[in-house]
Amino acid sequence: MAINIITFGTFDVFHLGHLRILQRAKKLGDYLFVGISTDALNFSKKGCKPVYSQEERMEIVASIRYVDGVFLEESLEQKASYLKQYKADILVMGDDWRGKFDHFQKICKVIYLPRTPSISTTEVIEKIRR
Ligand code: CTP
Repeated sequence: MAINIITFGTFDVFHLGHLRILQRAKKLGDYLFVGISTDALNFSKKGCKPVYSQEERMEIVASIRYVDGVFLEESLEQKASYLKQYKADILVMGDDWRGKFDHFQKICKVIYLPRTPSISTTEVIEKIRR
């Protein structure tokens, strides 16, 4: 039986930390599905829109060789239904989210992977700004 992996994120201003979590997530199974948070969801969480639009972010992530499918994550409340829809066996998140998704363990396995050190979208934007 194939093992389905699912992960979620904004993936704005795509960087090496993003690439590496997708690569490591894919190694845990056979198919990797990525929920890309919508511009509206980002706005509601952070009060600003991502640099790249949701369509651009989807296109970039979909082109990564480790990724088998992308979809838009419209709201945090729908996570459980995305897990079921994509028949996820494992939910992978960076360890900045450690503990936050443990309640999904009744649906699938939850694995937190260590973040790649010293890089984030916020830092890249700051660097360019400076
Ligand atoms: N991620 C990672 N290593 C990094 C940065 C991100 O493993 N250095 C992971 C996150 O843990 C998450 C996924 O990549 O599971 C998407 O992260 P996202 O929030 O889109 O990227 P960040 O760079 O963390 O963005 P921000 O600076 O806006 O928080």
